[in-house]
Amino acid sequence: MSAPSNPATGPYIDPRVTVLPRTVQLTALHTIMRDKETSRNDFIFYSNRLIRLLIEAGLCLLPFEDKAVTTPTGTHFAGKEFSAKLAGVSIMRAGESMEGPLRDVCKMVRIGKILIQRDESSPSKEAKLFYCKLPVDIHERHVILLDPMIATGGSAIKAIEVLRQHGVKEENIIFLNIISCPEGISNVLTACPLVKIVTTWVDDSLNNHKYILPGLGDFGDRYFGTE
Ligand code: URA
Repeated sequence: MSAPSNPATGPYIDPRVTVLPRTVQLTALHTIMRDKETSRNDFIFYSNRLIRLLIEAGLCLLPFEDKAVTTPTGTHFAGKEFSAKLAGVSIMRAGESMEGPLRDVCKMVRIGKILIQRDESSPSKEAKLFYCKLPVDIHERHVILLDPMIATGGSAIKAIEVLRQHGVKEENIIFLNIISCPEGISNVLTACPLVKIVTTWVDDSLNNHKYILPGLGDFGDRYFGTE
């Protein structure tokens, strides 16, 4: 995938990838999150703010229908109403950090969980499914897939494969993440070309240990206090 540079949003312009506008506010939130001196308390507080922005942007990609209402002034307002069934699915463990902000925005949303880890016993160390619990009618739902970081994209690709096996249409999956990188985005869209990705920032690259650069280190460890 070619990656023309866009100073407002980052290096990706692809209709399947939404990058949040790089406002000063967004940059300030990232500055706190990425600072290695940031306390766990602040890391959680500011990641919740970022995740909330991400979720609101992701919800814009869902289907809406016209809805006219009358305001207290007796005047009509030509509005919109969400018109689909929705579920969140978190990729454990880091994706679970995004469940609370999703619930804050989508009342009573059903939330499934998928645990994928590298199979250390296999020579290829490929992503392997260890646990999956999804709403029984997941195949009828649009799915917000939650994982704060896309590094190689291996876990996301496996999670999307699992969702497809449960009857979810690939085009009904919106993958939300805080920080991504060109390699991960490209891998996910090559394996799953109908998925939509929403990210707050596209970073530069991956290091040899598959950490995103500049990144913020291990999101799950910083959020859950297991550093
Ligand atoms: N997961 C993380 O938490 N951080 C990275 O840099 C890559 C994957």
